[in-house]
Amino acid sequence: MATALVAAAGSGERLSAGVPKALAPLAGRPMVAWCLAALSEATTIESAVIAAPPGHEERLAEIAAEAAPSLRTEVVPGGPTRSESVANALRVQGGAEALVVHDAARPLATADLFDRCVERLAGWRCDCVAAAARAVDTIKEADAGGRVIATLERAQLWVVQTPQVFRSASLARALSEGDLSRASDDAQLVEAVGGDVRLVEAPRHNLKVTTPLDVRIAELLLAERG
Ligand code: CTP
Ligand code: MG
Repeated sequence: MATALVAAAGSGERLSAGVPKALAPLAGRPMVAWCLAALSEATTIESAVIAAPPGHEERLAEIAAEAAPSLRTEVVPGGPTRSESVANALRVQGGAEALVVHDAARPLATADLFDRCVERLAGWRCDCVAAAARAVDTIKEADAGGRVIATLERAQLWVVQTPQVFRSASLARALSEGDLSRASDDAQLVEAVGGDVRLVEAPRHNLKVTTPLDVRIAELLLAERG
């Protein structure tokens, strides 16, 4: 059985909700409640450690008890960057072999997606399995002035999401050796130490809520789900 590490400690500057993003209301619940409910429904996950915005630990524990009563949860204060929040959660996890890192900012992740990623990690025996959607836009690389350097081959491009599932020892090594101040996801820290990282195709629906526009889209999708 796997343990989830939920990165929920961000301030949500781009959302500007007046509260940390994980606590911002989304379709009638605090945003973080949606992924906690899906994690508790996943059959491969038995516990979760939540990295909370410092000062909001008790509120996060209340939300978890209500949204995910069947999940054993623990709350730790987050760190100054996302990777440091994940590292804080990793420190107290109870020795699970597989760790499911997930961003509270992805409220549309389903129990099925969590289970699929955990099962693939076991089947492929790799270091990390990351959920990702095929790129639908043409993506260009440009310099700081906007001058195009290259147009990347779209067929090979994936937009990477969470969940990202790790062999516990692989994540611990990557976090202890990596530059936690710069990484935007954990899979890249595993790549940096030569780990075997593979992708599982996930729906674009599993979007990251960053701005007020994303809240509107996520609420429409959650309403559709019923
Ligand atoms: N996160 C975290 N600890 C941090 C920063 C971010 O746990 N110090 C988490 C966020 O809570 C979020 C995920 O990492 O679930 C992805 O980060 P992002 O979408 O950038 O969220 P914020 O950092 O909160 O938003 P912003 O960058 O707009 O301030
Ligand atoms: Mg951020």
